[in-house]
Amino acid sequence: MNSDRSGWKSNIGFLLAAIGSAIGLGNVWRFSYMSFEYGGGAFLIPYLVALVVAGLPIMILEYGIGHWQKGSAPLSLARIDHRFEWLGWWMPVVAMMGIMLYYSVIIGWCVNYFCYSFTLAWGKDPEGFFFKQFLELSDSASHLGGLRVPIVFSTLLVWISCWAICFRDISHGIEKTSIVFMPILFVLTIIMVAWSVSLDGAGNAIINHYLHADWNKINLFASDPAKAKAAGEVWAAAFGQIFFTLSLGFGIMITYASYLPDKTDIVKNALVTSIVNCLYSFIAGFAVFGIVGFMAKSQGVPFDQAIKSGPQLAFVVYPKAISLLPGMNSIFGVIFFLMLILAGLTSGVSLIEAFACAVTDKFGLSRRKVVSILCGAGFAGSLIFTSRAGLYLLDIADHFITNYGLVCGGALECIVIGWVLKARILRSHINRHGTRLPAVWDFFIRFSTPAILVFLFSLTINDDLSKNYGGYHTDQLILFGGGWMLICLLLALALAFAPWKAGKLVRRHEPEEDELLV
Ligand code: PHE
Repeated sequence: MNSDRSGWKSNIGFLLAAIGSAIGLGNVWRFSYMSFEYGGGAFLIPYLVALVVAGLPIMILEYGIGHWQKGSAPLSLARIDHRFEWLGWWMPVVAMMGIMLYYSVIIGWCVNYFCYSFTLAWGKDPEGFFFKQFLELSDSASHLGGLRVPIVFSTLLVWISCWAICFRDISHGIEKTSIVFMPILFVLTIIMVAWSVSLDGAGNAIINHYLHADWNKINLFASDPAKAKAAGEVWAAAFGQIFFTLSLGFGIMITYASYLPDKTDIVKNALVTSIVNCLYSFIAGFAVFGIVGFMAKSQGVPFDQAIKSGPQLAFVVYPKAISLLPGMNSIFGVIFFLMLILAGLTSGVSLIEAFACAVTDKFGLSRRKVVSILCGAGFAGSLIFTSRAGLYLLDIADHFITNYGLVCGGALECIVIGWVLKARILRSHINRHGTRLPAVWDFFIRFSTPAILVFLFSLTINDDLSKNYGGYHTDQLILFGGGWMLICLLLALALAFAPWKAGKLVRRHEPEEDELLV
């Protein structure tokens, strides 16, 4: 079956591609900022707990499904139970429409800033440069204000690069690219870390703000209810970050694992992917804290006023710090933005692959045709984020997709596999080769992981209903957040109801009860 399906040339190629998907823009700025905000070294505790009780079990689940059913998310889920094909579509649709459309624009910004680094074009006021000259940010999310031409060009370049990578089959495209890009990314990161920690003021910032643990911030049992509630938010954020950083809930890992050979150690691969990803975030944090510490010291401002959240960390704080460096400023900027471009591209192609593979699986179209149409349409779709309101729109889309779309996808995946299929059937498949998966995994998939995700979901809904996210107007949130999600859902349903090309939906062997290795 599926002998036409090409595959990874080597396990290391697969691992580098999966790690490439996991390591993205979020590892560099999202993790560092969260550590700072949520208790420094103490944040590692909820982060690691989230990794063990949700991240790893779902990573193994996704690898297991893809490897067992040898298909993209919709094909695999349809083979398991056709009633859940829509869920298989929901995940890659959210990946493509929900994330990639704006993720490509942020990689585009990195391309612009990579060029600006050569001349330190942001000058003395990087904040004014970013918002007023570069984005020309409009006054509200509903006021698009036309497209920003430099961003349109860089975004086009990003889509062309992704197209060139995804166009070829998996081993010649994504695998080869990852084998080249990922080692370069690791080397650049090590250079950045070594350089940053040697700067004046870096050591203090790292010790006092990054590694120093503020245990109160994670204490769920604090006697003061307000403190306990705040600690709850920290735990929720840690789970959200683990999901996002491991690229779970998009069907990406299902798709990547579908190209693996029969004899594969799934558990080991999942462990390596997750550990390398999280270690990368931790190490990259030294570079971020080092340089922000240096900047704070040279400007004589407290550290907590120097650091900023989200994109501002990369596009305002970093440029500011780069300009202050005693020498070789340009190289520092060039390396930093190149790092982001490489990390972003290897994540971007995985988002496209999850959707492209799903379409080729179902409709039997050629990969080249699907990827070309998808990248063309994707570029057109991302234009809205290159408008002068782009920053607002991507902030809203990101909030809804990561907090609702992803968490829903992950929870439903657990419920379908845990309850409808029965987790132990999948476990018995996973246990056919390599490291054995203990029975406690069933418990995670059936009970704890979905329960935690549902709890997270309710926390965010509660929060969003009590105050408008980011201070946006209600109609803007409904239109750009809720509306976006609704379009994704409708598209997923339409694709699920479309007929399969003959011969594509053949079920794979399901182990009999007495074959189960439980
Ligand atoms: N994991 C990537 C990051 O941390 C982002 C991403 C999410 C990529 C989902 C692909 C899918 O930045």
